Amino acid sequence: MFQNILFQSPTIIFGINAINQIGEQAKKLGAGRALLITGPRVEKTGVLGNVKALLESVGVAVQVNIQDRDTPEPATDVVERTAQVARECNCDVIIGLGGGSILDVSKMASALLTNPGKTEDYFGREKVPKRGKPTIIVPTTSGTGAEVTKHAIFLERASNVKKVVASSNLLPNVAIVDPMLSMTCPPAVTASAGIDAYIHAAEAFLSKNANTITDALALEAISIITKWLGPAFADGQDREARYHMSLGSLMAGMVLNNSGTSLVHAMAYPVGGEHHTPHGVTLSALLIPCFDYVAVAKADKMAALARAMGEPIDGLAPREVLERLLEAIHFLLKSVNLPASLTDLGISREATDIHQWAVEAHKEQRLLTRSPRILTVEDIELIYENAFD
Ligand SMILES: [Fe+2]
Repeated sequence: MFQNILFQSPTIIFGINAINQIGEQAKKLGAGRALLITGPRVEKTGVLGNVKALLESVGVAVQVNIQDRDTPEPATDVVERTAQVARECNCDVIIGLGGGSILDVSKMASALLTNPGKTEDYFGREKVPKRGKPTIIVPTTSGTGAEVTKHAIFLERASNVKKVVASSNLLPNVAIVDPMLSMTCPPAVTASAGIDAYIHAAEAFLSKNANTITDALALEAISIITKWLGPAFADGQDREARYHMSLGSLMAGMVLNNSGTSLVHAMAYPVGGEHHTPHGVTLSALLIPCFDYVAVAKADKMAALARAMGEPIDGLAPREVLERLLEAIHFLLKSVNLPASLTDLGISREATDIHQWAVEAHKEQRLLTRSPRILTVEDIELIYENAFD
């Protein structure tokens, strides 16, 4: 079968001490003045001071903006405030340095400098008409992939619902991925972000939008993350583990950007919205029942996933292959203290209206149309039910 492939990616600079190139990259993008957006944790670790000094050493003036938010996902008004700071400082380049939320705010604030209106006007697909001011995006966790994606997720304050801006014009100009910046990431965040990356690769691999390029990246990312998430969780100072997790997460981000996630992400929205559980942790609790349910559509790909996770499956029947895959995923989750069910996540079945969740998740057609198995509200309800076992 012939495929037509569109593959989008920023310029990527990856490696130990890759951050040292930030000054040169900012200059290339025309920075006389940069707005550096980051969070309180990055400030405490000393990374912020280092990055600021690197920029100033090549003559780039830096204004720092420390994000402070009251919700797990940044609310839309935070983006508006940040864009106003960027306008007032008259910066040429926006630099985002931090976890996924900080990076999302940086990407969207940049877009609001060249496009009219507010974040709410751009929820949905390809609604941002123009590219923003140039961006350099620097992650300090390994997982969200935000440094190479066109997506940004925000809490709409009025409705208290998480919504997505998905537009090619949000794609960063440059992604700098330096494993050394993730060394201080705490174990729980390492696990949650790491499994998010695993799911970006695995879910996109199963998706209807998958192609030969993203499949190759996805399988390698899955293999890397399966091997190195445990060591990175167990000892944050393990440089080799951080190196590989940064690489695996970056590759998974490229898969996410070009093939897209599906069912697990769609089903996590209502759960995260009600319980405010971290993104990766919520996905983790739904992963096994979701993959179990769609396996019927993709036996070959389930075998490839099992192989990428190191399972010896030659000669096994498809039913046995699926068992091995789900066991391998269960082992991975448990080894880094992640929940393998909604019960593990501390949610009570009795106190939950799973029909309402299923109705909400089913509205995420942007994601569900990529699912290899067509899913009705009743199907989704059954998966939630299974996730309580
Ligand atoms: Fe995700």
